[in-house]
Amino acid sequence: MISKSEYEIPQYIPEIYSNTSQVFDSIIKALAEGVTNRRHPFHTPVISTINGDKPELRTVVLRDFNKDLMEILIHSDYRTGKVSQLKLNPNTSFLFYDSNSAVQVRARGISFVHYTDDTAFERWQISKPASRRCYLTTVDPGEEIPVPDSTLPADYKNITPSLTESESGYKNFCVIRTVINEIDWLYLHKSGNIRAAFKIKEGKLHHSSWLAP
Ligand SMILES: Cc1cc2nc3c(=O)[nH]c(=O)nc-3n(C[C@H](O)[C@H](O)[C@H](O)COP(=O)(O)O)c2cc1C
Repeated sequence: MISKSEYEIPQYIPEIYSNTSQVFDSIIKALAEGVTNRRHPFHTPVISTINGDKPELRTVVLRDFNKDLMEILIHSDYRTGKVSQLKLNPNTSFLFYDSNSAVQVRARGISFVHYTDDTAFERWQISKPASRRCYLTTVDPGEEIPVPDSTLPADYKNITPSLTESESGYKNFCVIRTVINEIDWLYLHKSGNIRAAFKIKEGKLHHSSWLAP
């Protein structure tokens, strides 16, 4: 093992990644941008849940990130498999990859499902009718159907519902709030990759370290 004194940050590593606290700051910045910038690759992470003894992955939209609490919010349909899975096992992992900056972030945490509570209501209020429309589907997501169909009521197949019409989707809407407790960061470079790990306790950075990639 190389002792810390023998180890020097390689020349090719960008200045912003020369210490773990700068790396951590860059992760926070990218997550915040992933919320506000629809074109940022962190806008659509993959979230994993555990279904019995099998992992399940799916793409979602990053709706909010609270850096003070280290919490991620996503919206979902309460009838989906991921919600049933989280009720039985709240262990979650998010995967983000930005091919422009060659950075992968894996954020592990514990998820809480908010359904017909203050958090769900607050997020529903700021959801636009176009986003609310997917909560108007008439068959539970994942159920077998005889023909390919969105299962949206005929009236909303090609048009966005009005705000009032979209209200009935609230019964299917939920918010998944994930409290991050670990982050694994990887930066790819042709001269060699670098990797760091962060442990988070109660929303605060508790421990950081470099890892062999
Ligand atoms: C780009 C993209 C964004 C998506 N965003 C969401 C989302 O924010 N929330 C969600 O529940 N599903 C979203 N989905 C659909 C999920 O990937 C998934 O198909 C669905 O939620 C059912 O997953 P489950 O049965 O594993 O729960 C998105 C899919 C894509 C391709």
